[in-house]
Amino acid sequence: MELKLAFIGFGNVARAFSRLLDETGRMLAERYDVECRAVAIATARHGSIVSDDRIALGEAAARIERGQKLCGLPRTVDVADALEVIESAGADIVFETTPLDPLRGEPATTYIRRALQRSMHVITANKGPLAFAHRELKATAEQRGISFRFEGAVMDGTPVFNMAEYCLPGARVLGFAGVFNSTTNFILTGMEQGWSFDECLSEARNLGIVEANADYDLDGWDAAIKAVALANVLMEADLRPAQVERTGIRGITRDELKLARDRGMAIRLVARARVCDQGLKLTVAPESVPIATPVGAVRGTSSVLVLETDLMGEIAVLENNPCIKQTAYALMSDLIRVRTEMK
Ligand SMILES: NC(=O)c1ccc[n+]([C@@H]2O[C@H](COP(=O)([O-])OP(=O)(O)OC[C@H]3O[C@@H](n4cnc5c(N)ncnc54)[C@H](OP(=O)(O)O)[C@@H]3O)[C@@H](O)[C@H]2O)c1
Repeated sequence: MELKLAFIGFGNVARAFSRLLDETGRMLAERYDVECRAVAIATARHGSIVSDDRIALGEAAARIERGQKLCGLPRTVDVADALEVIESAGADIVFETTPLDPLRGEPATTYIRRALQRSMHVITANKGPLAFAHRELKATAEQRGISFRFEGAVMDGTPVFNMAEYCLPGARVLGFAGVFNSTTNFILTGMEQGWSFDECLSEARNLGIVEANADYDLDGWDAAIKAVALANVLMEADLRPAQVERTGIRGITRDELKLARDRGMAIRLVARARVCDQGLKLTVAPESVPIATPVGAVRGTSSVLVLETDLMGEIAVLENNPCIKQTAYALMSDLIRVRTEMK
């Protein structure tokens, strides 16, 4: 079956996904009967294009990487923006990978809503729409009988949402604890080894893992948004990031980290969801946790999620030193899921 793909955002994630499609095209055709045809790309500064033929994704990616615009790419016409792409491309699946807006989840939420209303399946790696509008977007998708998938939004391609949906039938998630933010975990583990906060932050910047605005990492916003996304999806909550009780990692000293380590503990920026008398409570804060636990053991850019369930007890999922290919895989695994649910 041929599937027409539209890309809203064609940055690091979407381009890595397009390379993965290239690598795996034969497997997708043989094993899942999927043949992908790119029919549209929307960006912020590189133009937006649609095609009633096929867009050469490799050429589109090369242009963007050279800092050139997409307009003029063979067999394409220019359109104004992402909304026009959604209206005019006739896509089967929209891949939404615009940057996170931590304050409102926009314009990603608007793009996804519009695509779902036009009965297009949507796959995103953006946690903003889950943290601000998951319930509404899920309801729209269900009404239309189409898919809204987002495995890449938290912990890249590590199965978190899909694990709960497909591997834990009948079980309820009662709470969770996790370390979700690479930058702060990289800094804390670097400081444990004697590096200064500034040296670790600068090294994290060199690795390209720091948000454009580092405050979003350091003050716990990124972890809070991921916690809200997880709670909204896995626990059917309808929370917003401002409702998370949040403390970042500023002010933690090397002495505190060393003292903790001498006692068999590690200080980690832990996101937690637990049910208390007032209802579901989400917190993000530095905690001293035993090193001999999944949360205490996680180091560097790795992440961990420990789910507490009613029927399966505790389950821990570890993502070890992720790279962009893992996020690209999340989009691919969602694509395969959309295809298999079409049968
Ligand atoms: N990078 C990762 O490892 C990773 C992992 C998991 C999840 N994510 C999430 O995945 C998403 C994409 O990340 P990324 O690293 O690919 O970001 P990126 O490299 O900054 O790419 C963002 C893309 O979105 C386009 N864009 C920005 N505003 C737009 C708008 N209003 N309308 C249409 N297009 C717009 C940009 O256009 P221009 O090219 O013209 O700037 C660019 O093509 C983010 O939500 C991020 O949080 C990323």
